[in-house]
Amino acid sequence: MKKIFILLSILSLAAGVMPTAMADPAADLKKFQDYFKKRFPTVPFDEFSNGMYALPGLESYRDQWMLYNEFPPYELGLSLGKKAWETPFKNGKTFASCFKNGGKNIAQGYPYWDGTTNKVRTAEMDLNDCLKRNGESPYADLDKDLEARVRFAQLVAYFYSMSAGQRLKIDVSSPGAVKAYEDGKKFWWQRRGQLNFACANCHMDLAGKNLGGNQPLSAALGHTTAWPAQRLEWGRLETIHFRYITCNQQIRAKPMKHGSDIYNNLQFYETYMSSGLPLTAPAMRN
Ligand code: HEC
Repeated sequence: MKKIFILLSILSLAAGVMPTAMADPAADLKKFQDYFKKRFPTVPFDEFSNGMYALPGLESYRDQWMLYNEFPPYELGLSLGKKAWETPFKNGKTFASCFKNGGKNIAQGYPYWDGTTNKVRTAEMDLNDCLKRNGESPYADLDKDLEARVRFAQLVAYFYSMSAGQRLKIDVSSPGAVKAYEDGKKFWWQRRGQLNFACANCHMDLAGKNLGGNQPLSAALGHTTAWPAQRLEWGRLETIHFRYITCNQQIRAKPMKHGSDIYNNLQFYETYMSSGLPLTAPAMRN
């Protein structure tokens, strides 16, 4: 494990894929997806939504994962999320009243750029907004309040499950969206932490490798399609921002705040890079 870290710290990042300074999301997207298609030519495109389990060499993990999927351990959490989605607010309305199409088949467009507030908006933000607009209290203090975060992850998981199979389609056509995209992109490629690792080191350079013999690494292509997800180790549904926090901690970097603009922009970038892939959330993960 240590050797790999040392080796990577002198290697350059996923050679040739690192985007140029000029903002051109469509060109970045092609380079990014081509990198993985070339690196893993036997993996059908849609399979990348299944994270590490799609990758050659990790078949034993896939076998175990298929077994888990017969009675997915997240089912209980998902049913609690469904209940939260369906339970009427004090005013008699439900979450469905806040969303287009009652919330069905719309999650593939999240997160999205909102020109009115000049921010990227996540599903979490729209769900919390719905609570506030209906006189209910939002899910808050998500860095510290584990219980609140898990209940929120369950609700978000249900929200995404109503769009299962829909293909990611993120609109980056406005200048504001491109700026947020560039911000997320910068975070993705930047080295940080005591180990001086970028996201790209683990999820591009080392994709499909098994760190320390017991920690396989997913390809970045497909990131976000499965979240909220439940890791065996965590035993609960969790948000994508919590996943980001733990990835930052692994390299001993100071994590950002749950729901911060920078994580929203990172999620925006990562999701755009997975354009065209089907949503599979919630899912099980190692
Ligand atoms: C030291 C290596 C390392 C670095 C650096 C790292 N991660 Fe991870 N990441 C992991 C491991 C280990 C997992 C769990 C196995 C997997 O799914 O890859 C993971 C999982 C993930 C997942 C879930 C993938 C899935 O399909 O379930 C996402 C999303 C993710 N990381 C994003 C990031 C982002 C964004 C960054 C940069 C801020 C980052 N990671 C940096 C090690 C790393």
